[in-house]
Amino acid sequence: MITKCLFPVAGYGTRFLPATKAQPKEMLSVLTKPLVQYGVEEAQQAGMKNIAFVTGRSKRAIEDHFDISYEMENMISGTTKEHQLKGIRELISQCTFSYTRQIHMRGLGDAILTGETLIGAQPFGVILADDLCVGEPDGVMAQMAKVYAKYKCSVVAVEEVPEQDVSKYGIVSGQAIDERHVMISEMVEKPDPEVAPSNLAIIGRYILTPEVFDILRQTPPGKSGEVQITDALQVLAKKSMVIAYRFQGKRFDCGSVEGFVEATNFFFHGQMSK
Ligand code: UTP
Repeated sequence: MITKCLFPVAGYGTRFLPATKAQPKEMLSVLTKPLVQYGVEEAQQAGMKNIAFVTGRSKRAIEDHFDISYEMENMISGTTKEHQLKGIRELISQCTFSYTRQIHMRGLGDAILTGETLIGAQPFGVILADDLCVGEPDGVMAQMAKVYAKYKCSVVAVEEVPEQDVSKYGIVSGQAIDERHVMISEMVEKPDPEVAPSNLAIIGRYILTPEVFDILRQTPPGKSGEVQITDALQVLAKKSMVIAYRFQGKRFDCGSVEGFVEATNFFFHGQMSK
């Protein structure tokens, strides 16, 4: 059973400036809940109750969110508003939260390697909270934990994207095991559409085996000077096995304004119809 989930939250979130000038992108809220809380709920649903954050400067609001806010909680205690804190209080009581800082923002691969100190030598989940996922029937990370339990290797969640969008993602190809699982043989970060091996894009959900840390240590920076997790996973796929899993559900790219608006509409109308 995988118990730890890593949240790399050190990125600058430049697509949301000025909103992200002094607050983390992951604290932007879809309706009344910040993106990061959706992600932690998904991890908890998958049985991953040890939550590890790789943070950076201007990210303190995340630590405060996963802690008690005495003054505010005292003020609303016994009022009709108290139920609004029920979800976050439950998360705080059921999970542990630990933090380390990425000093130089050298990409997602570097952020994951920075998290090694919190993870140690065991398999772990990775959630990029700006990809907001609604799994059906289980959360996407819970679905992936089942894939890990079967194959005992690293797993990445993928979805088909329009051909013109492949250059925004890590793209994978390989041998189909069945309609939901592909054994990856090739992975490339943000390819031009003409050379992309497929249109299967990696989204912000991974289960990684700890060998990935040694590989990341030896992975040179790729495009735009960042250490790419895709490059490390390509090595891992050659050394052992990496499965691409077509998840059941929906993903919203809340790192982009369009995706954020789409998610907001989805949750607003979902809530209205309940
Ligand atoms: P993004 O590519 O979305 O970058 O990172 P970003 O900086 O967050 O956002 P933009 O593009 O400037 O708007 C993908 C994920 O990797 C994390 C981010 O926090 C996000 O969850 N990340 C990225 C790090 O933790 N450290 C890095 O050095 C880079």
